[in-house]
Amino acid sequence: MSSEIKWKDVLNLNSWVVRDYYRLVSSVNSLEPQIQRLSDEQLREKTTELRSRLSQGETLADIQAEAFSVVREAARRKLGMRHFDVQIIGGAVLHDGCIAEMKTGEGKTLVSTLAAYLNALTGDGVHVVTVNDYLARRDAEWMGRVHRFLGLSVGLIQGGMPLDERRQNYNCDITYTNNSELGFDYLRDNLSHNKDELVMRWPRPFHFAIVDEVDSVLIDEGRNPLLISGEDRKDAARYPVAAKVAELLFNGAHYNVDLKQHSVDLTEEGVALAEMILETNDLWDENDPWARFVTNAIKAKEFYRCDVQYIVRNGKAVIINELTGRVEERRRWSDGIHQAVEAKEGLEIQADSVVVAQITYQSLFKLYPKLSGMTGTAKTEEKEFLKMFKMPVIEIPTNLPNIRQDLPIQAFATARGKWEHVRAEVESMFQLGRPVLVGTTSVENSEYLSDLLRARSIPHNVLNARPKYAAKEAEIIAQAGRKHAITISTNMAGRGTDIILGGNAKMLARGILEDNVLPFLTKEPLNTETEGVSLSQKAFSKIKLEPSSLALLAKAALMAKYVQKSEGNDWSVQKAKSIVLESIEMSDIFEIEELQMRLEEEAESYPLLPVIALAYLSVLKDCELHCFNEGNEVKKLGGLHVIGTSLHESRRIDNQASSNCKHLRGRAGRQGDPGSTRFMVSLQDEMFRKFNFDTEWAVRLISSMTNDDIPIEGHTIVKQLLGLQINAEKYYFGIRKSLVEFDEVLEASQVQRKHVYNLRQLILTGNGGSSTELILQYMQAVVDEIIFENADPQKLPRKWNLGKFLDEFVWIGGKLLPESLKEVKEEDLLSSVDQIKGLDSIDVDSFSLPNLPLRPNSFRGYRKKSSSLRRWLSICSDDTAKRGKYTGTVNLLRKYFGDFIIACYQDRVDNSGYDYAHIQKIEKEVIVKSLDRFWRDHLINMNRLSSAVNVRSFGLRNPLEEYKIDGCRFFISMLSATRRLIIESLIQFWSKNVVFEEIFTS
Ligand SMILES: Nc1ncnc2c1ncn2[C@@H]1O[C@H](COP(=O)(O)OP(=O)(O)OP(=O)(O)O)[C@@H](O)[C@H]1O
Ligand SMILES: [Mg+2]
Repeated sequence: MSSEIKWKDVLNLNSWVVRDYYRLVSSVNSLEPQIQRLSDEQLREKTTELRSRLSQGETLADIQAEAFSVVREAARRKLGMRHFDVQIIGGAVLHDGCIAEMKTGEGKTLVSTLAAYLNALTGDGVHVVTVNDYLARRDAEWMGRVHRFLGLSVGLIQGGMPLDERRQNYNCDITYTNNSELGFDYLRDNLSHNKDELVMRWPRPFHFAIVDEVDSVLIDEGRNPLLISGEDRKDAARYPVAAKVAELLFNGAHYNVDLKQHSVDLTEEGVALAEMILETNDLWDENDPWARFVTNAIKAKEFYRCDVQYIVRNGKAVIINELTGRVEERRRWSDGIHQAVEAKEGLEIQADSVVVAQITYQSLFKLYPKLSGMTGTAKTEEKEFLKMFKMPVIEIPTNLPNIRQDLPIQAFATARGKWEHVRAEVESMFQLGRPVLVGTTSVENSEYLSDLLRARSIPHNVLNARPKYAAKEAEIIAQAGRKHAITISTNMAGRGTDIILGGNAKMLARGILEDNVLPFLTKEPLNTETEGVSLSQKAFSKIKLEPSSLALLAKAALMAKYVQKSEGNDWSVQKAKSIVLESIEMSDIFEIEELQMRLEEEAESYPLLPVIALAYLSVLKDCELHCFNEGNEVKKLGGLHVIGTSLHESRRIDNQASSNCKHLRGRAGRQGDPGSTRFMVSLQDEMFRKFNFDTEWAVRLISSMTNDDIPIEGHTIVKQLLGLQINAEKYYFGIRKSLVEFDEVLEASQVQRKHVYNLRQLILTGNGGSSTELILQYMQAVVDEIIFENADPQKLPRKWNLGKFLDEFVWIGGKLLPESLKEVKEEDLLSSVDQIKGLDSIDVDSFSLPNLPLRPNSFRGYRKKSSSLRRWLSICSDDTAKRGKYTGTVNLLRKYFGDFIIACYQDRVDNSGYDYAHIQKIEKEVIVKSLDRFWRDHLINMNRLSSAVNVRSFGLRNPLEEYKIDGCRFFISMLSATRRLIIESLIQFWSKNVVFEEIFTS
């Protein structure tokens, strides 16, 4: 009863919030007539005006309604899309740092322009983060037109982009990127040794981000660590041997696998056989450790399948992301798994990786002072978003009711039966002319179905991680909504992909231009590698081009040929393509009349760009008409039909269907279009194996009762299947929940990372003074540490270990120290200490311990004086140290020896003959390198710790607490070791003047 009331409250709350946003909508609407009257020029000037109003003290809230109506108008003019009222609400939700849940196809891409524009006005940079390169590029090109039109700069980050280009793009007002590029850029910046290598906007790289498909980024992939790894080659030879061993061992006899846990267990026979083959007495022998390699090789054999989890390309095993279906060039499986896979495939073994930097998406995005997100499915994760990111989820109503038809699931006994039916359904749709999108979960499956269709001569396109297909992604998707289009896709055409019924006119027009102009611009052969990709081309109706378009196309081709010949240009395909692209962009910026004017003006200098631009505009008009008509035709036929071929086990608890299915479904019936979806599964699908669900009996039973070609729709077995799906989700939910708790503890390491990275940035970007000051602080800290180890302020000085202290101090100070200090004996120090016990005021500038050597007098100059004063103040007010009766005495020891070593150091540096800049360069490098070295070790330790903690959880202690405590301990000792290394390296350097590199190679 009570829970029902609560539930209602929540519902009400959401509609209440949405209702509240309508006030903003009405102000945006009321501004519209006046904004619509502005000329393009005046509209663009609005940006300058809003910016100056901000600088005069108005807030973003003050200008929000006006900014939104400016964007709405710009989008209407440049994209032909006017933000619907619900989209205005979506934009406001984003601006408020919340998650906007809008159903698939509702136009989230357009929504993001509102908040992006408004927040970019401050000039601090806005990041729009999508889930892959394709979407980032699409959105930057598509939505970028609105922003550029309004005078903002738009950047795009893509995989493989060089550093200086990245830097330029991060400096733009709005930067489109994908989550993994963003993460790697952040990590890479924090490994760089030079200010010039930084690509983000330090010291404040993060300001505001809009994360598209936010549930996927922050929840599904949220805890996947991004790793940057260094190299370690010492075990490379073991992998191929282990792979051979794995081949000789058999599942069931020599080892057992647990699919669910992803683990393997060697049996006694297995161990014996492996030891015999490897001629070792003990697989776990520390000096000759084989166990890890053998189990990895078995895992590679059992769990990692080519074309499912990875593909082999250019001699490398490249991971396919199971969620997105895309290849992940730079990711490698950790703990030697990747090498084991390489060995299995007979590839060259890449170096063993050692983690040098890592971060999870969740930690990464917490670095933004303001974060927002959008997705079609977030309400189910609301609690998690609130807890982890303090981001509420606001459900936004749809613009038009959804009329998509979700047909009931069909279950088949055998996989063969299922695929046969998928083929039949595709075929019947093809005959009707309805476009079909078939989703598969692996490259393997997509190609299997492709073969079935080819055997029946049904033209179709395949979209999967293989490079030849992936390169054509945009083109394939542009065509996927056309009449007769059959598209088979792995999860790639999942989230975010927009399939337009009748086809995407812009892409088609671009294609036509490229087909006609490129051959004249370059002598290089155009992509021959992609043969067979555009299989379905021949099924499409030909786009009818008007005579005027044909004439312009011919003119463009002729001009291209002419320019290429007369200029002697030898352009690459890449360059030729970029020329076409540039022309298309030009057609965006200028009106036709202006293009024609340019044509005449530049007649002397081969007006290639305007000619292509004009041809494009004309072709585009034909394409638009064609797509519009074909779109209507397709709508009459019933719109896009989506076929799902498995219930991909999702990581989400959801009563109806998993999120992946939902997103696949969402490709049909967009923006109120008609459409339908159907899921077909078989009892032999991987999902059932994974959950040890014994389906063999059912397969046998059903095949004996029926012919396995008949779907068992609506049967109890289907209900059971769905039950199973929910179980699968519960299982993952459980895993995730424990991960969340674990992650909260990992927060500790987040603080640590922040500390280290901030320090690095301070050193790299700060002025020279900051590193020198840091070094002096470190010297004092190092001295303090050895003093505290040997002098307990609660004990009598007679009980102190002053001899040991002197030894250590002299050892650290080494050749920097004058002989007189090295000769000081324990008794001398003790008697000196006895004399100062009663002292309560000192002369900070020239303090010295009685009867002990004077330090070099190098604190001359205001800066040095004030720095020494600061150090003394911080010693006196240090409340972290242990206190006791003799605290005052200990403090004076800290002062004397701290000053002494610092003075010696400054003396030596001042007399080195180097100039200030050179000295600082050395100091900076020593700090950064030492920091990196220890941080890397620390990460390895933390990783080890987390696995050790898992083991310990069998005991009575709370593993998470343990982890936290140990983690802090590790971190503190890491920092202290780093300080020590920095100081020792510097002192060593200045005393011997060794060549700098030697410090780190020794
Ligand atoms: N205001 C509008 N007027 C006209 N068309 C619109 C408008 N907003 C969006 N659209 C169209 O709706 C389609 C879907 O848009 P979009 O891909 O941004 O949806 P989405 O919500 O991001 O979906 P997904 O969840 O699949 O990512 C696009 O073709 C877009 O052109
Ligand atoms: Mg989208």
